[in-house]
Amino acid sequence: MELPHRPAGAVRIGRQTEEVDDVTAMVGRQAQAAARASDVWKVYGSGEAQVIALRGVSAEFERGQFTAIMGPSGSGKSTLMHCLAGLDSVTRGTVAIGDTTVTGLNDAGLTKLRRDKVGFIFQQFNLLPTLTAQENILLPMSIAGRKPDPAWYQTVIDTVGLRDRLGHRPAQLSGGQQQRVACARALVARPEVIFADEPTGNLDSRSGAEVLNFLRNSVREHGQTIVMVTHDPTAAAYADRVVFLADGQIVSELIEPTADTVLDTMKKLDTPAEVNG
Ligand SMILES: Nc1ncnc2c1ncn2[C@@H]1O[C@H](COP(=O)(O)OP(=O)(O)OP(=O)(O)O)[C@@H](O)[C@H]1O
Ligand SMILES: [Mg+2]
Repeated sequence: MELPHRPAGAVRIGRQTEEVDDVTAMVGRQAQAAARASDVWKVYGSGEAQVIALRGVSAEFERGQFTAIMGPSGSGKSTLMHCLAGLDSVTRGTVAIGDTTVTGLNDAGLTKLRRDKVGFIFQQFNLLPTLTAQENILLPMSIAGRKPDPAWYQTVIDTVGLRDRLGHRPAQLSGGQQQRVACARALVARPEVIFADEPTGNLDSRSGAEVLNFLRNSVREHGQTIVMVTHDPTAAAYADRVVFLADGQIVSELIEPTADTVLDTMKKLDTPAEVNG
Protein backbone atom coordinates (compact mmCIF):
# COMPACT_ATOMS: atom_id res chain seq x y z
CA MET A 1 0.00 0.00 0.00
CA GLU A 2 1.32 3.41 -0.87
CA LEU A 3 1.00 5.89 1.93
CA PRO A 4 -0.28 9.35 1.00
CA HIS A 5 2.28 12.07 1.45
CA ARG A 6 1.37 15.03 3.54
CA PRO A 7 1.64 18.25 1.54
CA ALA A 8 4.74 20.33 2.15
CA GLY A 9 4.07 22.94 4.80
CA ALA A 10 1.04 21.17 6.28
CA VAL A 11 2.98 20.50 9.43
CA ARG A 12 0.95 19.29 12.35
CA ILE A 13 1.56 21.56 15.21
CA GLY A 14 2.08 19.83 18.49
CA ARG A 15 1.59 16.11 18.74
CA GLN A 16 3.68 15.35 15.67
CA THR A 17 6.90 15.16 17.67
CA GLU A 18 5.87 12.49 20.15
CA GLU A 19 4.21 10.16 17.60
CA VAL A 20 6.21 10.86 14.48
CA ASP A 21 7.64 7.33 14.39
CA ASP A 22 4.15 5.89 13.99
CA VAL A 23 3.50 6.62 10.33
CA THR A 24 0.17 4.80 10.21
CA ALA A 25 -1.17 6.82 13.11
CA MET A 26 0.04 10.01 11.43
CA VAL A 27 -1.71 9.21 8.17
CA GLY A 28 -4.84 8.27 10.11
CA ARG A 29 -4.85 11.61 11.86
CA GLN A 30 -4.28 13.48 8.65
CA ALA A 31 -7.47 11.92 7.30
CA GLN A 32 -9.16 13.16 10.47
CA ALA A 33 -8.39 16.86 9.93
CA ALA A 34 -11.62 18.84 9.78
CA ALA A 35 -9.77 21.98 8.69
CA ARG A 36 -6.26 22.60 7.49
CA ALA A 37 -4.18 25.65 6.64
CA SER A 38 -0.94 25.12 4.70
CA ASP A 39 1.54 28.00 4.56
CA VAL A 40 -1.23 30.58 4.52
CA TRP A 41 -0.31 34.20 3.90
CA LYS A 42 -2.80 37.05 3.97
CA VAL A 43 -1.84 40.53 2.86
CA TYR A 44 -4.33 43.40 3.04
CA GLY A 45 -3.86 46.56 0.97
CA SER A 46 -0.71 47.59 -0.83
CA GLY A 47 2.14 50.11 -0.62
CA GLU A 48 2.12 52.26 2.52
CA ALA A 49 -1.20 50.77 3.64
CA GLN A 50 -0.05 47.16 3.32
CA VAL A 51 -0.73 44.90 6.30
CA ILE A 52 0.59 41.34 6.46
CA ALA A 53 -2.04 39.71 8.64
CA LEU A 54 -0.83 36.09 8.25
CA ARG A 55 2.78 35.06 7.59
CA GLY A 56 2.86 31.43 6.54
CA VAL A 57 0.48 29.78 8.98
CA SER A 58 0.26 25.97 8.84
CA ALA A 59 -2.14 24.19 11.17
CA GLU A 60 -4.45 21.23 11.30
CA PHE A 61 -7.66 21.07 13.26
CA GLU A 62 -8.45 17.50 14.06
CA ARG A 63 -11.98 16.16 13.78
CA GLY A 64 -13.81 16.03 17.10
CA GLN A 65 -11.38 18.41 18.77
CA PHE A 66 -12.00 21.75 20.49
CA THR A 67 -9.21 24.21 19.67
CA ALA A 68 -8.81 27.72 21.09
CA ILE A 69 -6.88 30.38 19.22
CA MET A 70 -5.29 33.11 21.35
CA GLY A 71 -3.01 36.03 20.73
CA PRO A 72 -2.77 39.81 21.03
CA SER A 73 -5.21 42.11 19.27
CA GLY A 74 -4.23 42.36 15.61
CA SER A 75 -2.24 39.09 15.64
CA GLY A 76 -4.43 37.61 12.88
CA LYS A 77 -6.86 35.38 14.79
CA SER A 78 -10.02 36.50 13.01
CA THR A 79 -8.21 36.62 9.67
CA LEU A 80 -7.11 33.00 10.10
CA MET A 81 -10.65 31.88 10.92
CA HIS A 82 -12.12 33.82 8.01
CA CYS A 83 -9.57 32.30 5.62
CA LEU A 84 -10.22 28.79 6.96
CA ALA A 85 -13.97 29.24 6.56
CA GLY A 86 -13.82 30.61 3.04
CA LEU A 87 -15.10 34.02 4.18
CA ASP A 88 -11.89 35.67 3.02
CA SER A 89 -9.42 34.69 0.31
CA VAL A 90 -5.80 33.82 1.06
CA THR A 91 -2.93 35.65 -0.65
CA ARG A 92 -0.80 32.51 -0.74
CA GLY A 93 -1.05 28.95 0.54
CA THR A 94 -3.99 26.58 0.73
CA VAL A 95 -6.92 25.93 3.00
CA ALA A 96 -9.08 22.81 3.22
CA ILE A 97 -12.27 21.97 5.07
CA GLY A 98 -12.56 18.19 5.33
CA ASP A 99 -11.80 16.87 1.85
CA THR A 100 -12.71 20.16 0.14
CA THR A 101 -9.89 22.45 -0.94
CA VAL A 102 -11.31 25.91 -0.24
CA THR A 103 -8.65 27.82 -2.11
CA GLY A 104 -9.64 27.66 -5.74
CA LEU A 105 -13.41 27.30 -5.22
CA ASN A 106 -15.53 29.65 -7.32
CA ASP A 107 -18.29 31.80 -5.76
CA ALA A 108 -20.90 29.08 -6.06
CA GLY A 109 -18.53 26.58 -4.47
CA LEU A 110 -17.74 28.96 -1.63
CA THR A 111 -21.43 29.60 -0.97
CA LYS A 112 -22.08 25.86 -0.82
CA LEU A 113 -19.09 25.34 1.47
CA ARG A 114 -20.21 28.04 3.90
CA ARG A 115 -23.75 26.71 3.83
CA ASP A 116 -23.05 23.00 4.22
CA LYS A 117 -19.68 22.59 5.90
CA VAL A 118 -19.09 25.44 8.33
CA GLY A 119 -20.99 27.01 11.20
CA PHE A 120 -20.30 30.38 12.79
CA ILE A 121 -20.74 31.87 16.22
CA PHE A 122 -19.97 35.59 16.55
CA GLN A 123 -19.32 37.81 19.55
CA GLN A 124 -22.41 39.88 18.64
CA PHE A 125 -24.67 36.80 18.27
CA ASN A 126 -25.86 38.01 14.80
CA LEU A 127 -29.45 36.84 15.23
CA LEU A 128 -32.23 38.30 13.11
CA PRO A 129 -34.32 40.48 15.46
CA THR A 130 -37.68 39.86 13.76
CA LEU A 131 -37.42 36.07 13.91
CA THR A 132 -38.11 33.85 16.92
CA ALA A 133 -35.36 31.74 18.46
CA GLN A 134 -36.62 28.68 16.59
CA GLU A 135 -36.79 30.55 13.28
CA ASN A 136 -33.27 31.85 13.79
CA ILE A 137 -31.98 28.36 14.55
CA LEU A 138 -33.57 26.92 11.42
CA LEU A 139 -32.89 29.85 9.08
CA PRO A 140 -29.58 28.73 7.50
CA MET A 141 -30.99 25.29 6.80
CA SER A 142 -34.26 26.63 5.39
CA ILE A 143 -32.31 28.98 3.09
CA ALA A 144 -30.45 25.90 1.89
CA GLY A 145 -33.76 24.09 1.41
CA ARG A 146 -32.85 21.50 4.02
CA LYS A 147 -34.58 20.18 7.11
CA PRO A 148 -32.65 19.15 10.22
CA ASP A 149 -32.74 15.56 11.36
CA PRO A 150 -35.70 15.71 13.83
CA ALA A 151 -34.01 13.69 16.59
CA TRP A 152 -30.83 15.77 16.31
CA TYR A 153 -32.85 19.01 16.40
CA GLN A 154 -34.50 17.88 19.66
CA THR A 155 -31.09 16.95 21.12
CA VAL A 156 -29.67 20.36 20.23
CA ILE A 157 -32.64 22.21 21.73
CA ASP A 158 -32.39 20.19 24.93
CA THR A 159 -28.62 20.55 25.22
CA VAL A 160 -28.77 24.33 24.83
CA GLY A 161 -31.68 24.40 27.29
CA LEU A 162 -33.92 26.58 25.14
CA ARG A 163 -37.09 24.53 24.88
CA ASP A 164 -39.23 27.08 26.75
CA ARG A 165 -37.76 30.03 24.83
CA LEU A 166 -38.20 28.90 21.25
CA GLY A 167 -41.03 31.35 20.53
CA HIS A 168 -39.14 34.38 21.91
CA ARG A 169 -37.48 37.01 19.77
CA PRO A 170 -33.81 37.91 20.47
CA ALA A 171 -34.80 41.14 22.30
CA GLN A 172 -36.79 39.01 24.75
CA LEU A 173 -33.76 36.86 25.58
CA SER A 174 -30.72 37.48 27.78
CA GLY A 175 -27.30 37.74 26.14
CA GLY A 176 -26.44 34.22 27.27
CA GLN A 177 -29.69 32.86 25.85
CA GLN A 178 -29.13 34.70 22.56
CA GLN A 179 -25.68 33.20 22.28
CA ARG A 180 -27.09 29.75 22.99
CA VAL A 181 -29.55 30.30 20.13
CA ALA A 182 -26.56 31.18 17.92
CA CYS A 183 -24.79 27.99 19.11
CA ALA A 184 -27.86 25.90 18.28
CA ARG A 185 -28.05 27.57 14.86
CA ALA A 186 -24.42 26.63 14.16
CA LEU A 187 -24.80 23.09 15.46
CA VAL A 188 -28.12 22.01 13.98
CA ALA A 189 -26.74 21.52 10.46
CA ARG A 190 -23.90 19.34 11.83
CA PRO A 191 -21.20 21.24 9.96
CA GLU A 192 -17.72 19.83 9.43
CA VAL A 193 -16.40 22.56 11.72
CA ILE A 194 -17.79 25.42 13.81
CA PHE A 195 -15.79 28.65 14.02
CA ALA A 196 -16.50 30.87 17.01
CA ASP A 197 -14.93 34.33 17.22
CA GLU A 198 -14.90 35.44 20.87
CA PRO A 199 -18.28 33.79 21.56
CA THR A 200 -18.18 34.75 25.24
CA GLY A 201 -16.75 38.25 24.69
CA ASN A 202 -20.12 39.92 25.39
CA LEU A 203 -21.26 37.64 28.20
CA ASP A 204 -20.92 37.72 31.98
CA SER A 205 -18.88 34.86 33.42
CA ARG A 206 -21.89 32.70 34.28
CA SER A 207 -23.52 32.93 30.83
CA GLY A 208 -20.07 32.52 29.32
CA ALA A 209 -19.54 29.30 31.27
CA GLU A 210 -22.91 27.98 30.05
CA VAL A 211 -21.95 28.62 26.43
CA LEU A 212 -18.48 27.11 26.91
CA ASN A 213 -19.90 24.00 28.59
CA PHE A 214 -22.30 23.61 25.72
CA LEU A 215 -19.52 23.96 23.15
CA ARG A 216 -17.33 21.47 25.00
CA ASN A 217 -20.19 18.98 25.32
CA SER A 218 -20.96 19.19 21.63
CA VAL A 219 -17.34 18.18 21.01
CA ARG A 220 -17.16 15.47 23.69
CA GLU A 221 -20.59 13.93 23.24
CA HIS A 222 -21.39 14.61 19.60
CA GLY A 223 -17.96 14.71 17.96
CA GLN A 224 -18.35 18.28 16.69
CA THR A 225 -15.15 20.08 15.68
CA ILE A 226 -14.82 23.61 17.09
CA VAL A 227 -12.23 26.34 16.57
CA MET A 228 -12.72 29.26 18.96
CA VAL A 229 -10.94 32.58 19.27
CA THR A 230 -10.77 33.92 22.80
CA HIS A 231 -8.84 36.42 24.91
CA ASP A 232 -9.82 34.70 28.14
CA PRO A 233 -7.52 32.00 29.64
CA THR A 234 -10.47 30.49 31.53
CA ALA A 235 -12.42 30.12 28.29
CA ALA A 236 -9.37 28.67 26.52
CA ALA A 237 -9.07 26.04 29.26
CA TYR A 238 -12.34 24.49 28.06
CA ALA A 239 -10.56 23.55 24.82
CA ASP A 240 -8.46 20.44 24.12
CA ARG A 241 -5.70 22.54 22.63
CA VAL A 242 -4.65 26.17 22.42
CA VAL A 243 -2.79 27.67 19.47
CA PHE A 244 -1.06 31.01 20.08
CA LEU A 245 -0.68 33.56 17.29
CA ALA A 246 1.60 36.60 17.35
CA ASP A 247 2.16 38.95 14.47
CA GLY A 248 0.56 36.61 11.94
CA GLN A 249 2.47 33.49 12.96
CA ILE A 250 1.84 30.52 15.22
CA VAL A 251 4.30 30.91 18.07
CA SER A 252 3.20 28.32 20.61
CA GLU A 253 0.74 25.58 21.40
CA LEU A 254 -0.64 23.86 24.48
CA ILE A 255 -2.36 20.48 24.69
CA GLU A 256 -4.91 19.97 27.49
CA PRO A 257 -4.57 23.55 28.70
CA THR A 258 -5.51 24.87 32.11
CA ALA A 259 -6.15 28.55 32.84
CA ASP A 260 -2.77 28.63 34.64
CA THR A 261 -0.72 27.10 31.81
CA VAL A 262 -2.47 29.42 29.34
CA LEU A 263 -1.64 32.45 31.50
CA ASP A 264 1.98 31.30 31.84
CA THR A 265 2.32 30.92 28.08
CA MET A 266 0.75 34.36 27.50
CA LYS A 267 3.22 35.92 29.95
CA LYS A 268 6.18 34.25 28.27
CA LEU A 269 5.02 35.41 24.85
CA ASP A 270 4.56 38.94 26.19
CA THR A 271 8.15 39.09 27.46
CA PRO A 272 10.51 40.52 24.83
CA ALA A 273 13.27 38.12 23.76
CA GLU A 274 16.09 40.30 25.15
CA VAL A 275 14.55 40.11 28.65
CA ASN A 276 14.34 36.32 28.36
CA GLY A 277 18.08 36.34 27.71
N1 LIG B 1 -10.23 44.04 5.85
C1 LIG B 1 -9.04 44.44 6.28
N2 LIG B 1 -8.33 45.39 5.61
C2 LIG B 1 -7.12 45.77 6.03
N3 LIG B 1 -6.50 45.29 7.13
C3 LIG B 1 -7.15 44.36 7.84
C4 LIG B 1 -8.46 43.89 7.46
N4 LIG B 1 -8.84 42.95 8.37
C5 LIG B 1 -7.84 42.85 9.27
N5 LIG B 1 -6.83 43.69 8.96
C6 LIG B 1 -5.56 43.84 9.69
O1 LIG B 1 -4.97 42.56 9.81
C7 LIG B 1 -4.37 42.38 11.08
C8 LIG B 1 -5.00 41.17 11.77
O2 LIG B 1 -6.36 41.47 12.07
P1 LIG B 1 -7.33 40.45 12.79
O3 LIG B 1 -8.70 41.04 12.78
O4 LIG B 1 -7.16 39.10 12.21
O5 LIG B 1 -6.74 40.44 14.27
P2 LIG B 1 -7.29 39.69 15.57
O6 LIG B 1 -6.16 38.87 16.10
O7 LIG B 1 -8.57 39.03 15.30
O8 LIG B 1 -7.49 40.93 16.58
P3 LIG B 1 -8.62 41.20 17.70
O9 LIG B 1 -8.20 40.40 18.90
O10 LIG B 1 -8.52 42.67 17.96
O11 LIG B 1 -9.95 40.79 17.15
C9 LIG B 1 -4.59 43.69 11.83
O12 LIG B 1 -3.45 44.47 11.69
C10 LIG B 1 -5.76 44.31 11.11
O13 LIG B 1 -5.72 45.71 11.18
MG1 LIG C 1 -10.54 39.34 15.93
